[in-house]
Order: sequence, then structure tokens, then C-alpha cells
Amino acid sequence: MAFNVKKSIVMVGMMGAGKTAVGQALAALLEVPFLDSDEEIVRAANMTIAEIFERDGEAFFRDRETEVIGRLLDGERAILSTGGGAFMAERNRRMISERGVAVLLRADLELLWNRVKHKDTRPLLRTPDPKATLTEIYDARVPIYELADLAVDAHPDYTIAQMAEAVINV
Ligand code: S3P
Repeated sequence: MAFNVKKSIVMVGMMGAGKTAVGQALAALLEVPFLDSDEEIVRAANMTIAEIFERDGEAFFRDRETEVIGRLLDGERAILSTGGGAFMAERNRRMISERGVAVLLRADLELLWNRVKHKDTRPLLRTPDPKATLTEIYDARVPIYELADLAVDAHPDYTIAQMAEAVINV
């Protein structure tokens, strides 16, 4: 196992890559707490992410995201799942690399689209052509995701448990 046992593992990657599901399975396997930055933001604001974007704007959401990631990484070792945009901010990447190990769940566009197309929970995809928007976001972000410490490829046939094992064995 390539992980420093004292550091938290931070799941990064596109929406639909499986960060939350795989992170939860990983936390169970490693017997450490599972944390989710989006969930924390929603709980503190008592609003959905879509409502936060709509009422307060994306910049406000990104500031909450940085605060929450910082706070969650200050605690005991855990698996932390982050929202797909979190790793794009240099300030977040710095915190993550100081206090954790960034694990990228790499997934191709078709897999991501198949997973996100039925859900209406992601404000960034509320556009006239969500597939084109997802493609644009994907193209812009992929080079930055590759700055993660480790990467595991998501495959449509892999179960969540297999993905978690793959992360441990990377
Ligand atoms: C976002 C991804 C979402 C959520 C927000 C913004 C993004 O999280 O943080 O809608 O910028 O990619 P998931 O990656 O868990 O969908």
C-alpha cells in the first residue's frame, strides 16, 4: 500500500467518477471515518448545492468548499471525498498535498455522462446542452486532475468494492 498511514486520503476527480461511493468503501476497508466536503457544506448551509449556487453564486460555494476541506483535513485521519471542482483551486491543492494524499478516480467521458445524465442535482450541468458542458468541463480539468498523487482508472464493469481494492493496491 502506497499510503502514508498518518495522512488522510482525498478523493478527487470529475462528477460521476465515484468519489463518494468508492471513498465510503475505502473507509470501511481501512476502518477510518468517511467525510464528504459537499455533504458538510450542505449540512452547514441547510440548503442543497443547487440552492447555494442559485442564491449565493459559485464563488461563495468555492469559499465554503475551501473552508470545509481545511477543517476536515485538520481532524483525525480519514477518507475525504471532495466535489469535482475542489481540486481545481490551487489553494485547495496546496492544503490537500500538505495534509493528505490526493487520489484521482480517472473515468472517461462516456462513463461520466452515463452516470450523471439522469440526475439534476449538479448546478454546473443545468445548461441547454449538459453533455457539451460536461465535455468542456472535462477537457479543462483533466490536466489538473493529473496533478494528484495517485490515480486509479474507473471502468464501467468494476464494482465499487473492486475500485476500493484498486485504490489500496495502487
Ligand atoms: C462540482 C461537483 C459536485 C459539487 C458541485 C460542483 C464540480 O460534486 O461539488 O456541484 O464543480 O464539478 P460531485 O463531484 O460530487 O458531483
